[in-house]
Amino acid sequence: MADRRQFLHNMVLSTGAYALSGLYVDSHKSSLPANEKEELKDFSQFAKEEDFWTYITQSYTVSPNIINLNNGGVSPSPKMVQDAVTRYNSLTNEGPSYYMWRILDQGREPLRRNLAKLAGCSPEEIAINRNATESLNTVIYGINLAKGDEVIGTKQDYPNMIQAWKQREMRDGIIYKQISFDFPLEDEEEIVSRFEKAVTSKTKVIHITHIINWVGQILPVKKICLMAKKYNIATIVDGAHSFGLMDFKIPELQCDYFGTSLHKFLSAPIGSGMLWVKKEKISSVWPLVCNDKPQSEDIRKFESLGTRSFPIEQGIGEAIHFHNHIGSQRKEDRIRFLKNYWANQVKDIKGVKLHTSLKDNYSCAICGLSIEGKTPAETEQFFFEKYKIHTVSIVWENISCVRITPHVYTRISDLDILVEAIQTLAKK
Ligand SMILES: Cc1ncc(COP(=O)(O)O)c(C=O)c1O
Repeated sequence: MADRRQFLHNMVLSTGAYALSGLYVDSHKSSLPANEKEELKDFSQFAKEEDFWTYITQSYTVSPNIINLNNGGVSPSPKMVQDAVTRYNSLTNEGPSYYMWRILDQGREPLRRNLAKLAGCSPEEIAINRNATESLNTVIYGINLAKGDEVIGTKQDYPNMIQAWKQREMRDGIIYKQISFDFPLEDEEEIVSRFEKAVTSKTKVIHITHIINWVGQILPVKKICLMAKKYNIATIVDGAHSFGLMDFKIPELQCDYFGTSLHKFLSAPIGSGMLWVKKEKISSVWPLVCNDKPQSEDIRKFESLGTRSFPIEQGIGEAIHFHNHIGSQRKEDRIRFLKNYWANQVKDIKGVKLHTSLKDNYSCAICGLSIEGKTPAETEQFFFEKYKIHTVSIVWENISCVRITPHVYTRISDLDILVEAIQTLAKK
């Protein structure tokens, strides 16, 4: 107990110290993720340490007047990240071409290294960009595919990626096949086998959404990728909702390409993203925005974006610091605990249906909910009008629900209000 108290004290002091750190150079000092420290490994109850999590809540500037449970859409940044962006922005405006390109850009390679450390890969496999859409479109348009080649995706993938594949189909005559799942599904082998059944001798790519954004279903990415390898099929993973939320390293997934936004669970500045390409694949992917060496094996060829916000990019460094001081495993545990906290209290109420498995392998932050006799739009409206709880209604393919997504800053007391809102609406 004494050790635990000391640890919490140290965490508060160390995280608090960041709020005072002034210069961007500080933001790139590498820090050991808390959950890699030997003495902190056995904190299985940590998800319930409210004194620590209250401190984390206070590191954010979220409005106390609205309960934001749509962190699946985009997440706020802690104050230290916002402050860094403001600092870099002020500096930039003292002379943009000098401070941005000559000073701030010195942080690009350290940032790449810190992202690579978090992702568990070589910095030479990481490109920094603006979001998951940009990352995944780079791969979807950049890989060589010939007329008649087949790509397998699902009806429950993210629309931007579905549309990108459909455009490639129109332009290049590839065949884009979508399988469809009825979620929740609690059988990894069945999910893998559904993908495998769609494979033909012409299949060249499988597109996998790691966490389905509509309902939070986790797909068994590694198993799907290992299956794909048997047929020499490339795998692209949409990790928009998994990176910065779940404790994994990208190479463990066994995929070839991985794209993510950093402004979701990593809480990096809004408009930041990351592309990972397996080293040996880089040379064969054409950049989306042209570069003088499009067939180079240098990952930086994917960063020829033209003028964009260096303050936003550099602010990612602070978000990594913040994340590391919580620790990936503890963050995953806490957010899953928050989802289970509210979901377990409402799952047996008459008329309430959960659209998400509560088993750890199949969900983490996101959970879908519907109430008999109410449309998702009515439910969302009721939550907001009566309780100022912000959620999002989902009507997509075979899914119809309200999506609820807490984040690491979400208060238990806010979830109590959500439970009350659900109980009240279910009785109406
Ligand atoms: C599964 C999934 N992929 C990709 C994206 C696109 O993210 P962004 O808008 O940051 O590019 C989202 C956005 O919510 C998503 O849910």
